Amino acid sequence: MTPKPLSLPIYMDHNATTPLDPSVREAMRPYLEDSFGNASSASHAYGWQAQSAVKKAREQVAHLLGCRAGDIVWTSGATESNNLAILGVVRAYCKEKPHIITQATEHKAVLEVCEAGGDWGADTTVLPVNAEGLISIDDLRKAIRPNTVMVSIMMANNEVGALQPVEEIAKICREHKLIFHTDAAQSVGKYKFDLHSIPADLVSLSGHKLYGPKGIGALVVRALNREFTLKPILFGGDQEKKLRPGTLNVSGIVGLGAACETAAQVMQDECTRLQAFQTRVLKTLRARFPQVKLNGPPEGQRLCNNISLSFPDLHADDMALDLSGIAFSSGSACNSASAKPSHVLKAMGVSDPMARATLRLGMGRFTTESEVSTVIDKVLKMLEKAYASR
Ligand SMILES: Cc1ncc(COP(=O)(O)O)c(C=O)c1O
Repeated sequence: MTPKPLSLPIYMDHNATTPLDPSVREAMRPYLEDSFGNASSASHAYGWQAQSAVKKAREQVAHLLGCRAGDIVWTSGATESNNLAILGVVRAYCKEKPHIITQATEHKAVLEVCEAGGDWGADTTVLPVNAEGLISIDDLRKAIRPNTVMVSIMMANNEVGALQPVEEIAKICREHKLIFHTDAAQSVGKYKFDLHSIPADLVSLSGHKLYGPKGIGALVVRALNREFTLKPILFGGDQEKKLRPGTLNVSGIVGLGAACETAAQVMQDECTRLQAFQTRVLKTLRARFPQVKLNGPPEGQRLCNNISLSFPDLHADDMALDLSGIAFSSGSACNSASAKPSHVLKAMGVSDPMARATLRLGMGRFTTESEVSTVIDKVLKMLEKAYASR
């Protein structure tokens, strides 16, 4: 990798985005240079080269997820995948006034899409979560109505690392013949999840969350729990079985394929290593400051690379100044420009002042032991200073 300029902070925001893995960059290089063909060009070698690269990438992604290569629809990322999954179903079922069930800590790329579904007659139930950010299976069962067509519940939360009980949710969907969509942007490449054993019909993923490029993602489309049609939300071409028209982003697709292949090889050890970092950070901070609150489930039961901490009586400005050597997020990176407390923390019952005094650390593949030590030192110093002055 290119050496880091000295002035750059330690990168602790891997839930927002990840750097390209060198293996991904190498795989993409030819498709950014000489192999620039359009995968839809069927009459010459440039097109054939692109087609065969896209075919290989489909197999790499399918291998990681345990689905069929033919189930994958390329998109521009998880936001678009969520839009296609939800609005695609709503548009197909609009005559039936479809009912959707989702939950309060979903990414806005699910919550706002469900809301937009109202324009096509859809009605959404947003399930509450408990203090750890988890839904209740009982609530889910009770929310099912005769016109419910779809359940959209994420695998792992980007802010607080809560892992929803997707296997159980999928089974309920199967029992009731409901379409099950899951936003897996944060869990693909971290966990071995096998779509053979999780009957999800629609699964969203994103390249840049697993050391692949930005601007590429996929939606896995399988009609497992019931036969259903998905209507496109973009028009103007036959690509991706007419579900997602437009010239394929071949270099991005190759990058996502390579990222999945690398993840399949390294993710188990990587998650073990990151979980050990997680435990070390939490143990050290709690030993000195027991009042520090971990948002989301306890270590061992949460996303392996995520730590979300709230500090009672602390102001966000204390953190911004003293932790300036660390690239972290104070809420969801996707909406951190807004001063509003995060909707995820609010849904979990965290007060506005505590939500504002929240630090999200997202560790990743290239995070080192010594970076973790520096982060611990800086956070400890920040807390000592802040609490000493109170
Ligand atoms: C859970 C989740 N879903 C969706 C997205 C949006 O993904 P993308 O940036 O690929 O559109 C993110 C990104 O933060 C995410 O964490």
